Amino acid sequence: KMEEIWMIIAVGLIIIAMGITGYQAFAMGMGPPSHQEHIDPQAIESHPEFSEPGVYELGDNQYEVIMTLQAFEFQPGEITVPEGAEVTFRMATKDVVHGVNVPHTNLNTMVVPGFIQEITQTFHEAGEYIMVCNEYCGVGHHMMSATITVE
Ligand code: CUA
Repeated sequence: KMEEIWMIIAVGLIIIAMGITGYQAFAMGMGPPSHQEHIDPQAIESHPEFSEPGVYELGDNQYEVIMTLQAFEFQPGEITVPEGAEVTFRMATKDVVHGVNVPHTNLNTMVVPGFIQEITQTFHEAGEYIMVCNEYCGVGHHMMSATITVE
């Protein structure tokens, strides 16, 4: 009998917790960020923004890196930005899911076909950083990297 009572209490608590989560997500709009930008992986070459990967100066100490990913390379493969600048990476993949990771920084994300991924990073220390793919994408996965020079 006691077991039954505890089971009912446990199940009741789970239902209450799910109810609270559901209420927060739907009624209060506390779900994960839903801002999504779509891109056709087949049409990146002719995309107004992604057809020309590169580093662009946006303004005072602000840079944008338009980056495309494909097995097994990042474009551009060499990026140079000033120390302390705010760098926004806008990334799209032409084929499969790739990962983007710059060790010893907060820059770590996935790039999924069909979506533009955006991440902003400030490099506070000059030096050479390596960007690697950390999502298995095929036989050349371990070769997929780019360099970021901060000066
Ligand atoms: Cu690209 Cu692993």
